[in-house]
Amino acid sequence: MGRKKISVIGAGNVGATVANKVAEMELGDVVMVDIIDGLPQGKGLDMFESAPIGGFDSAILGTTGYEETRDSDVVVVTSGVPRKPGMSREDLLETNKRIIDSVVAQVVANSPNTILLMVANPLDTMTYLALKRSGFPKKRVVGMAGILDTARFKTFIAMELNVSVEDIQTIILGGHGDQMVPLPRFTTVSGIPLLQLLPADAVDRLVDRTRKGGGEIVSLLKTGSAFYAPGAAAAQMVEAILKDKKRILPCCAYLEGEYDLSDICFGVPVKLGTDGMEEVIQVELNAAEKELVSKSAEAVRSSIEALKL
Ligand code: NAI
Ligand code: 2OP
Repeated sequence: MGRKKISVIGAGNVGATVANKVAEMELGDVVMVDIIDGLPQGKGLDMFESAPIGGFDSAILGTTGYEETRDSDVVVVTSGVPRKPGMSREDLLETNKRIIDSVVAQVVANSPNTILLMVANPLDTMTYLALKRSGFPKKRVVGMAGILDTARFKTFIAMELNVSVEDIQTIILGGHGDQMVPLPRFTTVSGIPLLQLLPADAVDRLVDRTRKGGGEIVSLLKTGSAFYAPGAAAAQMVEAILKDKKRILPCCAYLEGEYDLSDICFGVPVKLGTDGMEEVIQVELNAAEKELVSKSAEAVRSSIEALKL
């Protein structure tokens, strides 16, 4: 069996970070596509030239065409404009809809059996758009957001308690917007419930910072949005799929009745393996949590409606 092929569409901040990361992890050979001639070729060659130093044997190729992406195992779609200060993720909808429409058509034509891993914002809406445009089964279209959002929550908890980030487990449900639903009741530090370690008002403060975590980085960077943590999150999903790890990770998936929601792409824990999104995992929520999930779903639904599909 030859090496796996991972294509990354968009060689901007997130795309280049994912490409570099999956190459370093030797998950397969990498093809990076962008519309700006020279950008994917230059970044790709630069990354490839780091291989003798990093000691990895993944090939990395940059291109403006799709021929080289043919028969990819996974395609990570990062093409799309990022937000600037004062913008919400929803402000990106019109522009990114046009980009995703054209990208998905070309990806599908060249890799009809691939797994689409969506990153462009607004994430849940773009995942829904890609699912509908590709005609792929729901297993093969999955969005990245929950791993990033939980990573932020874990980071803030670790900073507050002065403990290792590695010991924190948590779940965040919902859309990748400020109405996402972090679940303190399902958060532990080495199995110890977070709510036994921190007072409720401190937990609320960390939840609020997590919800606004993307905006915090945008207001610092001023010229774009986060990319190191998003790139690492997408790479973790590629790894779970290509190594058939069956990891349970929070991702954006198409729901058909789970969490009492249908015909929507939404953040939920899923099992990621060789078939892609192999299973949606349901957790039992209390009334207050259900209410928050329903508010977040309303926000995602109105964004999906704005697509006018
Ligand atoms: P960026 O501006 O650095 O890179 C985007 C790249 O896409 C640019 O190089 C651009 O030339 C390229 N592009 C535009 N149209 C294209 C097309 N038709 N075909 C191929 N490439 C095309 O932006 P960045 O920071 O990499 O963010 C990319 C997207 O990911 C944004 O929509 C951003 O909001 C989203 N994002 C989502 C996250 C999530 O959690 N789901 C986290 C971080 C970013
Ligand atoms: C984030 O949360 C931009 O959606 C991206 O950082």
